[in-house]
Amino acid sequence: MLTRKHFLGVSIAAFAAACARTSEGVKIGFVVKQPEEPWFQTEWRFADRAGAEFGFEVMKIGAADGERVLAVIDNLGARGAQGLIICAPDTRLGAAIQQRAAANELKLMSVDDRLVGADGAPIEAIPHVGISATNIGRQAGETIAAEVTRRGWTLSDVALLRTTFDSLETARQRTDGARDALLATGLPADRVFDAPMRTSDTEGGFNAANPVLTRQTAVRRWLVVGMNDETVLGAVRATEGLGLGAGDVVAVGINGSATAQAEFQKSSPTGFLASILLDARSHGYETAKAMHRWIVEGVAPEPLLYTDGQVMTRENWQALLAEQEA
Ligand code: GLA
Repeated sequence: MLTRKHFLGVSIAAFAAACARTSEGVKIGFVVKQPEEPWFQTEWRFADRAGAEFGFEVMKIGAADGERVLAVIDNLGARGAQGLIICAPDTRLGAAIQQRAAANELKLMSVDDRLVGADGAPIEAIPHVGISATNIGRQAGETIAAEVTRRGWTLSDVALLRTTFDSLETARQRTDGARDALLATGLPADRVFDAPMRTSDTEGGFNAANPVLTRQTAVRRWLVVGMNDETVLGAVRATEGLGLGAGDVVAVGINGSATAQAEFQKSSPTGFLASILLDARSHGYETAKAMHRWIVEGVAPEPLLYTDGQVMTRENWQALLAEQEA
């Protein structure tokens, strides 16, 4: 005889099997603007970890321009994906991405760079995970200020080089935060030199920094900030080209990914003093997990999440990474 208890047991089992089936078929596109950059590879690695744990597929695709982004979204739709997490090559593609994702029945969230609408304002309806950019920029500036004090330099004797990328809000907030922190410690405003970049990679940083440095030959002690490790490293390479070394340059990057780690592993220090390690686990694992939950259980992700950073140096980088992996 089938009791009520039996019946309940059977339905729970059937429900669990149905859930497993749905979950098994889940495919999530994770599209990034610069797939060759270590930050995005770390993000993908954490997303894959969530996929392995919860049994869904992460489709990792690079898209460096708008045309490719739209083609990739159609392709994800055709391949049966149900969700899209994106760091777009241009945040102004926001409305087009939103429209194309909807046409392909993809749930949409953004990571790293927040999508904006035609009016330039963030699209609030798209859940987003980004860094607390102003604070993290300030952390970079404060790390530099502490090193300037440690070296016994006077602030009127140094200059700040900022590799800037102001068309991207998170980048602007980072380099503004860094500058403001240094101004607050007494750096004179006329000692700040901006090097606007065309591209946000090492080459972009180098090409932007070079002409500024060669114009300011009187400056022999440089402080360097930028939106990420790659661009800061490009500027550090430019200072080296002018014969400046670790004793003349204090540079702090952002990301703490393989670019910074490789620099910390060099036998002697370079001008690249530190990086602000970002929370790649939240940007990769937690976003993918939240998207999976949205698809399977219908629970939408937090609308807006800002993550923190930690100062990473030659001394503590291994310990910090071990913590993040755990
Ligand atoms: C931007 C930068 C990346 C990384 C992320 C972190 O996308 O281009 O290098 O710093 O932000 O959110």
